[in-house]
Amino acid sequence: MTSSPPASGCSSPAGASATVSGEDLIELTVACLNHMLRYVKETVADPPEICSKVMKDSAKIKEQLREILARYRGERVELILILEEVQERLGYLPKEALLEIADFMHMPAASIFGVATFYNRFRFTPIGRHAIRVCMGTACHVAGGALVTEALERELEIKVGGVTPDEEFSLDRIACVGCCVLAR
Ligand code: FES
Repeated sequence: MTSSPPASGCSSPAGASATVSGEDLIELTVACLNHMLRYVKETVADPPEICSKVMKDSAKIKEQLREILARYRGERVELILILEEVQERLGYLPKEALLEIADFMHMPAASIFGVATFYNRFRFTPIGRHAIRVCMGTACHVAGGALVTEALERELEIKVGGVTPDEEFSLDRIACVGCCVLAR
């Protein structure tokens, strides 16, 4: 069974109005965090589809890369498109894929790594079976996104960008997901 995402489950503390005090904010953040953790636990038996995309088998990675790169000419302007497609297919950008791309583009590996690490939408470790992403867009940041992130880091004992040793959970920051109205 798949649960609903936590967004609509977080409600303001009793009496909270448009002006939220520091105490209210902490209470609200803890409530949202508890709701999110419950959601994560409930979905353990039914992982989201995105998690099935993670690919770690070397032979399969090479096969996917061959297919992807065959559609490009190896021009520099194609680099971001290639990185995006590789991440879309593999779930992340493994080191071997970046080296292969460097070879294909006739570019130094350091340049490929430099471009890839410049954009925070690229990740270099596989996501967990349950990918947790905390919105750090302006509205969510003001509503305590950093506190939620810190609490998740403590709870999962990993840092942002990391994955738990059992590969169950990964934690990432994202920019606005277009649900700012739910950030309270
Ligand atoms: S800032 Fe978080 S959804 Fe827009």
